[in-house]
Amino acid sequence: MMPDVRLVMVIRQDVERMGSWLRDGDVSASWYGTDGQGEAFHIGYLPRHMVEATPWEWNQVFGDDGRKIFSVLTSDGEHIGEGQMVIDRALSEAQLFILIGRKDLWYKGYGTAALLQMLGLAFDTYGLHRAWVDVPEYNLPARHMCERIGFLTEGRFREAHPKDGLWHDSVIMGLLYDEYARRRAGMMEARDLAAA
Ligand SMILES: CC(C)(COP(=O)(O)OP(=O)(O)OC[C@H]1O[C@@H](n2cnc3c(N)ncnc32)[C@H](O)[C@@H]1OP(=O)(O)O)[C@@H](O)C(=O)NCCC(=O)NCCS
Repeated sequence: MMPDVRLVMVIRQDVERMGSWLRDGDVSASWYGTDGQGEAFHIGYLPRHMVEATPWEWNQVFGDDGRKIFSVLTSDGEHIGEGQMVIDRALSEAQLFILIGRKDLWYKGYGTAALLQMLGLAFDTYGLHRAWVDVPEYNLPARHMCERIGFLTEGRFREAHPKDGLWHDSVIMGLLYDEYARRRAGMMEARDLAAA
């Protein structure tokens, strides 16, 4: 059964945890890899900087309406990862990012549940038309997760992801509002049947 998750505002301790999760080689390898000094790349901000950010710097990153950053919590309130949504209102679309930093919780449905929550925000709350993800070709779990949710492969960006000194293609997958609405109804029905 799919676990319940919540998306909430990021607090400073969450950023510290993100930093420590990203120091794990398995996590950074499936995310954006590391730089020449072995520091893990992250998108939107550098955890090491934000732990010590001034209120103004903090607000620049976590108060940005164009890049919404959420902490992912379990139903018990435990912080397990992060979701980001980069919104282009002119095009009525958002690019989504999801990281379950607690690797002991991988493959238990938390990523799917968090991505569904973000889709709910993108389509139902913000009224967007399209959501998309850019998944490195080697990240098969993420590609399967997105396919199962209903994202369709729309193409590839060539050599768009640097990792460990090599360039990898990324797979662009998109989901439109009406596809999401049909798909979500089916997934919720399956969840309710499993719970009955
Ligand atoms: C990718 C990620 C978000 C998926 O979230 P998750 O909670 O681990 O995964 P879920 O349980 O929701 O299922 C995702 C898929 O993983 C795959 N999977 C399940 N068990 C697996 C295993 N033991 N090994 C590899 N893949 C497995 C399945 O294909 C599953 O999809 P399916 O059951 O519909 O076929 C998460 O693993 C993660 O954060 N990884 C690191 C960062 C990352 O890769 N982010 C995505 C970048 S686009």
